[in-house]
This record gives sequence, C-alpha cells and structure tokens, in this order.
Amino acid sequence: MPKETTRVSLTLPEELLKKIDKVVKTGDYSSRSKAVRDALRDFLANHKWRGELSGKVFGAIILVYDHDTPDLVNKLLDIQHGFRSLINSVQHLHVSESDCLETLIIQGDSEKVRELVNKLKSLRGVKQVKLTTVGK
Ligand code: NI
Ligand code: NI
Repeated sequence: MPKETTRVSLTLPEELLKKIDKVVKTGDYSSRSKAVRDALRDFLANHKWRGELSGKVFGAIILVYDHDTPDLVNKLLDIQHGFRSLINSVQHLHVSESDCLETLIIQGDSEKVRELVNKLKSLRGVKQVKLTTVGK
C-alpha cells in the first residue's frame, strides 16, 4: 500500500461494484482498493491528456448508448449535425436490443473536439465516450 493513504467512502451503483469485484476476482488485483486506485490513475492520465490536446487533431470518438432513453437519439443527431464540419464519417453498430455503438471519425480543432466529447458525455443514456487521437 502507498505510504500515505486516506480512507474515503464512495457511493457506487451496485452494478458497477459487481463489475469491479469481478475484475478483482480474476486475480489481477489483490483488493478492491487496488483496482479502484488503478482505475483512478487511468482516469487522471486520460483527463490530463485530453486537457493538453491542442491544435489540429484527428482520430475517433467511440460512444456506446442506450437508444431506448427518451429523446437521446434525437439529441445525438442534433449534436452531430452541429459538429458536422468536424465529423468525417459515422459508423453505427447495433450491439444489443437497446445498446448502440457509434464511431465518429473526426478531424479538426482540438477545442471543438473537446467540446463535442463533453456534449456527448453529458447526455443521459450515453454509457461510454472514448476519444482516441493520433499524431501527425
Ligand atoms: Ni444526419
Ligand atoms: Ni443501433
């Protein structure tokens, strides 16, 4: 365990905790805390990296959402139309009865990309948004 630690209590959805415990059971982590610490480090690295994006970037945004969420599909389309100069192509995969996966190939200003990612993330029913950019 790291030298200085603080105990915190978190409120997590049951489903998420079950998934974490499942990961711990695979043996990659010796405890829940260890798994969560690792996840948080990953989150921070990602967050920092995204904050440091600058200039023109290109890459892909992958999002997973529940298309049964009222009005979500309309909102997603409106947002994508608003950012049409950024979005080169969209690929859609129907993952299950209600889940959809979309890949948006993007190219453009990093500020705009960030804005788009944040907008997508803020929608209810959107389960995951991942941004991958590649350098020139
Ligand atoms: Ni359209
Ligand atoms: Ni679909």
